Amino acid sequence: MQIPTIFVCPDVTTLSHQAAERFIASGKSAIAARGQFSVALAGGSTPETMYADLASPEMLPQLDWTKSFIFMSDERHVLPSDPRSNYGMALRTLLCRLSPDKRHVFPVPTQHPTAADAAAAYERKLTDFFSTSPGTHFDLILLGLGSDGHTASLFPHSAALNEKSRLVTDSPPGTLPPSVQRITFTYPLINAAREVLVLAAGEAKAAPLRRILVDGVGREECPAAGLDPRDGTLSYFIDAAAAAMLPSAMLTKL
Ligand code: 6PG
Repeated sequence: MQIPTIFVCPDVTTLSHQAAERFIASGKSAIAARGQFSVALAGGSTPETMYADLASPEMLPQLDWTKSFIFMSDERHVLPSDPRSNYGMALRTLLCRLSPDKRHVFPVPTQHPTAADAAAAYERKLTDFFSTSPGTHFDLILLGLGSDGHTASLFPHSAALNEKSRLVTDSPPGTLPPSVQRITFTYPLINAAREVLVLAAGEAKAAPLRRILVDGVGREECPAAGLDPRDGTLSYFIDAAAAAMLPSAMLTKL
């Protein structure tokens, strides 16, 4: 397993800004190398603050969004208009700033009657996209981290953790709210990405980060421990509160 780079920022405002800059840099380099940028957004409050930064008048024009292809790394089985929708959150904070005729956005088709149907349809959409794309894997996958160690909608001890061939699967809700069925990227898809970036802020994330990064707890207990992009990089962007239980020698200060 590769050792991730752990960037620590004094507060969530700095963290959001630094992560947004990283997002832009990743997008620019993908566009320069392959003519397009494929990225998956995450749900959660820490990613949300970053999207607000990305949507600012200073940052938004820095990326060629017409060459950016935007997916969701996990979703709740609710319609986009539902306040619990991850896509709905990304739309309100960031995507609504992009002109509808110029943006390429691929929400999970949650109108399907079951999460399993939605997952299968999303997998087809991904397969179609990558079959005609110059890159065969995501340039960047953004993820959050739950206080129980989950990432995307890969929850502790769930069947989704053992998925070896599917790119997207359904998953029952974990113990944290909201208690709705999920659609989630699987390890095979996440670990094929060029870059995986985990965003975590607040003291509730200190213990899971220690369990994953210091104690070596496995992915059954702490699913984020299964993040291990085989040909890509893994970075955590965290704030000081989330870093409180990590040895300072592990941290790269921003
Ligand atoms: C979801 C999220 C989930 C989230 C983490 C962190 O749909 O529930 O995608 O994986 O990213 O729970 O969320 P917070 O940043 O709000 O703690």
